[in-house]
Amino acid sequence: MSAPFLKIENLHVSIEGKEILKDFSIEINGGEIHAIMGPNGTGKSTLASAIMGHPKYEITSGSVTMNGEDVLEMEVDERAQAGLFLAMQYPSEISGITNADFLRSAINAGREEGEELSLMKFIRKLDEKMDLLEMDQQFAQRYLNEGFSGGEKKRNEILQLMMLEPKLAILDEIDSGLDIDALKVVSKGVNAMRGSEFGCLIITHYQRLLDYIKPDKVHVMMQGRIVKSGGSELAQRLEAEGYDWIKEELGIEDERVNVNQEA
Ligand SMILES: Nc1ncnc2c1ncn2[C@@H]1O[C@H](COP(=O)(O)OP(=O)(O)OP(=O)(O)O)[C@@H](O)[C@H]1O
Ligand SMILES: [Mg+2]
Repeated sequence: MSAPFLKIENLHVSIEGKEILKDFSIEINGGEIHAIMGPNGTGKSTLASAIMGHPKYEITSGSVTMNGEDVLEMEVDERAQAGLFLAMQYPSEISGITNADFLRSAINAGREEGEELSLMKFIRKLDEKMDLLEMDQQFAQRYLNEGFSGGEKKRNEILQLMMLEPKLAILDEIDSGLDIDALKVVSKGVNAMRGSEFGCLIITHYQRLLDYIKPDKVHVMMQGRIVKSGGSELAQRLEAEGYDWIKEELGIEDERVNVNQEA
């Protein structure tokens, strides 16, 4: 059997000396889509940033491997080249670089010299993906995310996902701020990526997204780690009943990570 696409074991992460992730573990295999849900401030975005190598997040112990390779040893650009992709909760705007230029350099950065995607093939692929995501052609020539509405930014993150074809994608609140039609379009994009060579971790607050993107597993995060896992029925129960029953079941008083610690 091959190594899991993503394996995180007993990960501890601190920011400015404060521990945010505490003994976080997860395993995602090729072809699987996992969802992480959890109340605000429980460490979900911290997890995404730490895996991508954000310099602010200090990994104090634990391991992250992709196909058995140590991710924590890689530079940030090497992580992307190894097939990791992060759609951030708050995508940044970059003035002076068009969306199309950004995508083309990002694709070619991951390829050997001489293997670059030709301009013709790139344009064909871009047209095809923008079509599927029902995006207006003008977005290719606009500066990256500049002046994009909240929903347009999210759609653009999925365009990046489809163009870059990563092995493992982490989508942080890709559904936030989307209208119902956009939610369906974004879900269509993620579902089109499904396959044995793709693994995905979706961070969301809403079960509604998981009606469109059926997860193989659902995890609940509290206090910087996974406290409960199940199938999509777990998301349905959370939607109906909230988180209190889990806190009661596990004897958790405060689910956040940032309490009872010295600053
Ligand atoms: N760069 C940072 N500097 C200081 N504190 C941080 C930083 N990043 C995260 N934290 C703190 O870590 C805790 C977890 O934050 P995180 O963004 O991971 O939560 P989350 O689970 O994604 O919440 P939400 O559902 O609201 O997005 C919060 O208390 C937050 O203030
Ligand atoms: Mg978050």
